[in-house]
Amino acid sequence: MTQRSEFEKVVYDGGFRTLLTQEAIKDRIREMGRQITEDYRGRQPIMIGVLNGAFLFMADLIRHVEIDLEVDFIKISSYGNAKVSSGIVRMLKDINADVKGRHILLVEDIVDTGGSIKFLHEKFMALEPASLRFVTLLIKPANVETDIPIDYVGFSIANEFVVGYGLDYKQILRNLPAVYVMD
Ligand code: IMP
Ligand code: MG
Repeated sequence: MTQRSEFEKVVYDGGFRTLLTQEAIKDRIREMGRQITEDYRGRQPIMIGVLNGAFLFMADLIRHVEIDLEVDFIKISSYGNAKVSSGIVRMLKDINADVKGRHILLVEDIVDTGGSIKFLHEKFMALEPASLRFVTLLIKPANVETDIPIDYVGFSIANEFVVGYGLDYKQILRNLPAVYVMD
């Protein structure tokens, strides 16, 4: 008999607890899109997704932002394969756009310690944008160690390791359509 995949364990065996349903995520993203639309009307922001985790969220979010906007991506790594943040952030892929004088929205999947956004804040402020704001689907307020403001937050969650909807464990489970707690 073949071994069950991690995906099957979550989806079919009820192995993990559902934290956010597809419906809940969809409703919240629609609201966030509406808010960003209002706040940026008359401007043309550049939304920069932080790979890999934010790709799904960003794809869904921009379809609810009803103004002209550009997209780009940056890839950073802070975790390696562990469940706890290493605290060391490395840039694996830079953006291509020139962002000087632009309105930047950085789109994250989750803010945990805040190490990643601290790194991104420093990097992008040095490029002299017209403005810089952060968007995240999830935040773990109990863990955050930085006072950089996060302007758009989807959901505040407890200090638990979550997977799905872009978020991985050892690079898999990003394709789960909802967010699950991995106990
Ligand atoms: P931070 O730098 O500690 O804020 O960590 C941010 C990054 O760690 C996120 O962009 C995720 O890639 C990853 N991360 C933090 N918490 C989780 C989690 O619960 N599940 C999956 N990835 C996580
Ligand atoms: Mg990430």
